[in-house]
Amino acid sequence: MSAVRLSADLSPSQHKAEWLDTILKGDCVAALNKLPEKSVDVIFADPPYNLQLNGDLHRPDQSKVDAVDDHWDQFDSFAAYDAFTRAWLLAARRVLKPNGTIWVIGSYHNIFRVGASMQDLGYWILNDIVWRKTNPMPNFRGRRFQNAHETMIWASRDANSKSYTFNYDSLKAANDDVQMRSDWLFPICTGNERLKDDNGDKLHPTQKPEALLARIMLASTKPGDVVLDPFFGSGTTGAVAKRLGRHFVGIEREQEYIDAARARIDAVKPLESTTLTVLSGKRAEPRVAFVSLIDSGMIKPGTTLYDAKKRWAATVRADGTLAVGDQAGSIHRIGAAVQGFDACNGWTFWHYERNGGLTQIDELRRIARLGMERAGA
Ligand SMILES: C[S@@+](CC[C@H](N)C(=O)[O-])C[C@H]1O[C@@H](n2cnc3c(N)ncnc32)[C@H](O)[C@@H]1O
Repeated sequence: MSAVRLSADLSPSQHKAEWLDTILKGDCVAALNKLPEKSVDVIFADPPYNLQLNGDLHRPDQSKVDAVDDHWDQFDSFAAYDAFTRAWLLAARRVLKPNGTIWVIGSYHNIFRVGASMQDLGYWILNDIVWRKTNPMPNFRGRRFQNAHETMIWASRDANSKSYTFNYDSLKAANDDVQMRSDWLFPICTGNERLKDDNGDKLHPTQKPEALLARIMLASTKPGDVVLDPFFGSGTTGAVAKRLGRHFVGIEREQEYIDAARARIDAVKPLESTTLTVLSGKRAEPRVAFVSLIDSGMIKPGTTLYDAKKRWAATVRADGTLAVGDQAGSIHRIGAAVQGFDACNGWTFWHYERNGGLTQIDELRRIARLGMERAGA
């Protein structure tokens, strides 16, 4: 395995690992096994599709279709493909941080097999995204539906990881204040964005559109995060990561693609950091249950909570509920009940006594969140 250093120095003040912003040449499993464990925030993987094409495809005018028939896409059997899939997924999981996530893109040929392996290995599927192509390739054999989409599986490292990055608020704000849907509409990569070889032909058969990678990174990473791509190809992940102020690590076997990716990434100008700030709101933060403050000893059962003006007092019970007189319920429900309101944010309404004054219980939630982030839960 050899590393090709690129000029994407995104945070000069911070000491950078030597493998950051490089393309590692070699088989992805071997390369992944040499990286430190729990070192990357997000993985984007566009593995071989295992298309099983038998013979050339021709258009009605008999011209040959430029389909994916490369040797890297050939596997002898489903079993061989599954063994390969499990090997790289396992190696990828080792380098993923506990709160990291993985995206895998594929077509009907492989995505179901990949998804089953992911679940078998402990990954936890968070969403599947359909990338609907505005300009799909025609189905030249014409016998079935036109393949107009690819599927992406987005998964966390395991079922218990809760504080993975999902920029809910910024995605929603960018989508006319409507929650971003799981079907995305983008054209396939054409025009100037498509890398060409010396003959003017496609340099890489499956170059992904940068807009797709940008949506993925804007959804699931923060500036400065590390995005790893074990099937780097023409380097789309690296180009987008550099533009968006993220670090990347690419792994690719073919020297021709590495050279093209390196030139492509070197030409990318990162956006100003001021344009990369991610909009966040309360929803972007990990959820803390009130009872977890009792579990961790931050609040003891029997503690009295007050509103800011000490008009009402409530007792914390061991099960995480509050009691006022003969009423009991959640911090929110009891906060609303004492005021005669329909709803109340209990975190900001209730206070505990500290140093002779009152402190909002939201302060304890903030401390609990910091602990969760440090633990990578
Ligand atoms: C589907 S393409 C990825 C295309 C890429 N997303 C892009 O936008 O250009 C898969 C790439 O993985 C590479 N590849 C296949 N098997 C590999 C392996 N075992 N280790 C490293 N790279 C591999 C192939 O050479 C190919 O470039």
